[in-house]
Amino acid sequence: MVTPVSLGAWPTPLERAPRLAAALGLRELWIKRDDLVGLGGGGNKVRKLQYTCAEALEAGAHTLITTGAPQSNHARLTAAAAARLGLRCVLVLAGHEPPEWRGNLVLDSLAGAEVVWAGDESPTELAELEAKRHEGGHVIPFGGTTPSAVQAYVDCARELTAQEADFDRVVVAVGSGGTMAGLVCELGPERVYGIDVGAVADPHAAVAALLPTPPATLLIDQGQVGRGYAAFTEPVRDALKLAARTEGIFLDPTYTGRAMAGLIASCAANGLSRAGRVVFLHTGGLPGLFGHPDL
Ligand SMILES: Cc1ncc(COP(=O)(O)O)c(C=O)c1O
Repeated sequence: MVTPVSLGAWPTPLERAPRLAAALGLRELWIKRDDLVGLGGGGNKVRKLQYTCAEALEAGAHTLITTGAPQSNHARLTAAAAARLGLRCVLVLAGHEPPEWRGNLVLDSLAGAEVVWAGDESPTELAELEAKRHEGGHVIPFGGTTPSAVQAYVDCARELTAQEADFDRVVVAVGSGGTMAGLVCELGPERVYGIDVGAVADPHAAVAALLPTPPATLLIDQGQVGRGYAAFTEPVRDALKLAARTEGIFLDPTYTGRAMAGLIASCAANGLSRAGRVVFLHTGGLPGLFGHPDL
């Protein structure tokens, strides 16, 4: 395992959220603020990039290349990490260039990343071609999820346990699955409640594939996907409003909004309120709010 490069100030804050807890009927609710880590607007991808960038530097990389949706937070943070480390960055984004650049795309361009639109082609294949085109080109896979990047959320789980050992469950959004996998590795499958955002076809398989010994059951709620990854839903709108109006905390429309909508739904069905002490992992993503077509 590589030694991670430092891209943030740790630990991230763990804040009590008493007004949101009361609204949900939870005994206690904390919010782990990985959205507040310093680099590039913050978010869970920073912890992973500490490992993937260390691997890239060890391999002699000059250019970081990665893929994502047009509003990818991972792409934005790869651009920011490349800038911080004095590397170039190429982002291969899915689909066609939108008429207007908003949200994360504005930040990608401010950080100096070159954006390549995949159009109807596969972003993953194009990323490999870009790696050949650039001397010292190094591909960081989709979502920044590699086996060593999973260690990033083992680190986070340890940090959390040192801050507050007495919690029953952590609630987290599941995209490529790396964040949940790291938490499960350290905390065990019963203490981690994942909310699928619809980024991968089979989130159970995605998370299980990253674990050394996949457990029989992973707690993954697939009830918040709606019409798919890019679609905005009414439960997400309600979740965004509730977090903002009880705690002054802004969530994003794709990941943390869905995770909060899943927490709200589970509390309403009395699934999580019985657990009592819950940590909500705020994985960032706020710039996506300004790039979402339905908001
Ligand atoms: C804001 C935010 N939260 C959560 C996730 C999900 O993380 P993972 O891909 O490790 O499942 C992502 C991934 O893009 C993200 O951008």
